[in-house]
Amino acid sequence: MSRVIVSGTARAELRAALTEGDLLDSSEDLERYGRDETEDLLHAPDVVVRPRSTDEVARIVRVCTEHQIPITPIGGRTGLSGGALSVYGGVGLALDRMNAIEHIDEHNLQVTVQPGVITQVLVDAVAAKGLYYAPDPSSKGSCTIGGNLAENAGGPRAVKYGVTRDNVLNLEVVLPSGEVIWTGANTLKNATGYDLTRLMVGSEGTLGIITKAVLRLLPLPKASRLMLVPFDSAIRACEAVSAVFRAGITPSALEFMERDAIDFTLAHVEGITIQVPDAVQAHLLIEVDGLHEEVLLRECEMILQVVEAHGCGEVLFAETSAEVDALWRLRRNVAVAVKAHTVYKEEDTVVPRYALPQLLAGVKAIGREYGFRSICYGHAGDGNLHINILKDGLSDAFWKEELPKAIRELFTLTVSLGGTLSGEHGIGLVQRPYMDIAFDRAQLELMRGIKRVFDPLGIMNPGKVLPDMD
Ligand code: LAC
Ligand code: ZN
Repeated sequence: MSRVIVSGTARAELRAALTEGDLLDSSEDLERYGRDETEDLLHAPDVVVRPRSTDEVARIVRVCTEHQIPITPIGGRTGLSGGALSVYGGVGLALDRMNAIEHIDEHNLQVTVQPGVITQVLVDAVAAKGLYYAPDPSSKGSCTIGGNLAENAGGPRAVKYGVTRDNVLNLEVVLPSGEVIWTGANTLKNATGYDLTRLMVGSEGTLGIITKAVLRLLPLPKASRLMLVPFDSAIRACEAVSAVFRAGITPSALEFMERDAIDFTLAHVEGITIQVPDAVQAHLLIEVDGLHEEVLLRECEMILQVVEAHGCGEVLFAETSAEVDALWRLRRNVAVAVKAHTVYKEEDTVVPRYALPQLLAGVKAIGREYGFRSICYGHAGDGNLHINILKDGLSDAFWKEELPKAIRELFTLTVSLGGTLSGEHGIGLVQRPYMDIAFDRAQLELMRGIKRVFDPLGIMNPGKVLPDMD
């Protein structure tokens, strides 16, 4: 497929399909909708449509099907694998105007939302009713539920509450044919046929367009404790992670940050004052939550025993909400701080958590061999390590020719440890060349077959996820 220009006829039909929404085609708008947070990439759509209803989405899809125009669904544009980039031009389908929280069902602990709701807006709306929507990607202040669903986003709380997929009950989807379906039922259990809900989540807009979601809520945890645990050895920090779980604790977050991650973020984000002794090489940020303060204090003591047995330094307990906020800002701003420093590549590796020390050691060894610097951090409790490879002074030739070989080695190592390419950022555009490391021919053919059933014309987010489809 080559870049698709939307003809005058199709453009007029798209305008007609939008009774309430709008169509944008100024060069500034196209450029804005042609970027997400992935590296420095720009792939602009040829037009952007911003529907306001499922009906409008269905009509747009029918126009695109008739004219064989690629459709790229676009959410908050915070993605890190290029899922929302319009690599073949065509229609950028921005869902930002479909941002209603339609119904908070306090009896069944469910909420029905449109895809353009900003995750934090949803979290705040349900918290006002004493309820909890648990998935909390670092970009929650600007990412959307639709994007979270498309990429199966995670975040620190996933270690206890699951990723987005684990918190979805039912989805309304516009298929490439223009038909509108629900994928399941609004029930906690469902053993009825194939699980189209779980299939749609994480399909990165390649199978259809999610226009409504029924999400699972929980009672808001009543209390939490947060601690920052320093280590002189990053490997020792990683070794402590699985030991915490083996001791019988399930923290509500267990995050890892290399020394550089903290230093970059302290330099970039204002108002956080934490003294980090010179010898410290890494931190674990550990949170427990629940109903009773005294239970949490006992759990903290148990965690303390584990981390001390792994040689940690002096543990900082956040005592005030301002301290809690500062520690979370420190953690959530790592990606932003690294991006502000240099162009970088983000690898979202995940392994069974006991293999985390081996993964980290291997990443550093590959970095030494190829001559790149990496900053590693992430959701250690999930075995999910974000590897940020810094461009800094590396040549463009190295970046283009040599680095893909190093990334191939990183992923080969990850898979050899029982892991896989992405824990929560998706495959999108940038990890697509590496899918053969995680899947053999038979597995990829099954996925291609699924894609063909949903989208025989190949118009849904082409150039994403599956290698050599287009
Ligand atoms: C984080 C994002 C980058 O963990 O996934 O901060
Ligand atoms: Zn993350």
